Amino acid sequence: MIQLHHVSKDYQQINALDDLNFQIEQGEIVGIIGKSGSGKSTLLRILNLIETPTKGEIYFGEKEIQTLTKKQIQQTKQTIGMIFQHYNLLSNLTVHQNVALPLKLLGKTNHEKVDELLDFVGMRMKSQYYPAELSGGEKQRVAIARALVRNPTLLLCDEPTSSLDEENTEEIIRLLKRTHKEFSPTILFVSHELSSVKTLCERVLVLESGRITDEFFNTPKDVSSPVLSYAERIKRGVKDVRN
Ligand SMILES: Nc1ncnc2c1ncn2[C@@H]1O[C@H](COP(=O)(O)OP(=O)(O)OP(=O)(O)O)[C@@H](O)[C@H]1O
Ligand SMILES: [Mg+2]
Repeated sequence: MIQLHHVSKDYQQINALDDLNFQIEQGEIVGIIGKSGSGKSTLLRILNLIETPTKGEIYFGEKEIQTLTKKQIQQTKQTIGMIFQHYNLLSNLTVHQNVALPLKLLGKTNHEKVDELLDFVGMRMKSQYYPAELSGGEKQRVAIARALVRNPTLLLCDEPTSSLDEENTEEIIRLLKRTHKEFSPTILFVSHELSSVKTLCERVLVLESGRITDEFFNTPKDVSSPVLSYAERIKRGVKDVRN
């Protein structure tokens, strides 16, 4: 369980986060929706332990982050996976090497695990490709495999579908749902697109100018149904508009 108590983050004059109080249960899928500049990425950087809050406390389970030793912070960081809008893959590494990198940084090698995850995200056949040879949707699938390679208990998603078209957005949302079913991490999904948040998340927090101004519960849409062809979805879209 993660709890935030009176968390604020200031950058000089800018109050990026302002007195946040909420908690996330283990295994929940929570959405944070907010406009550009509302503080979404700042919140994720704080939860990813890259930055510290100016004020307030953050509990991971029983432990308050600022009471942890450097070693404990390193260990906690290893339980967190993150995916980004622009994928953040290393262009000089192959797909396989990108996914293996978080293990390599710990001095570990596990080719089987990397292959299993590449199978899981449907990218095994392109494991020797470089990022420049992949589409946006494929890059994000590789980034998801990379985020899962250390078996995270918390998966932070910073607008992972914001650079993708509708079809790839649905595919990534579907993959995140499968990720949740298969590995049960807590997922915090940040976006400015209400449709993606509503499709994936059970509970949604609204962030405005660094404050949580609303919270709603949601019944996520079923995206597990057969994938319609692109042309079929366009046709249905047109039909919907006419109706
Ligand atoms: N390192 C920084 N130094 C100074 N100000 C910052 C820094 N990072 C963020 N900010 C400011 O904090 C506020 C929140 O920024 P943040 O990037 O968290 O917003 P966001 O909701 O992620 O926006 P977007 O949807 O555009 O990604 C903004 O006013 C931004 O300019
Ligand atoms: Mg952002």
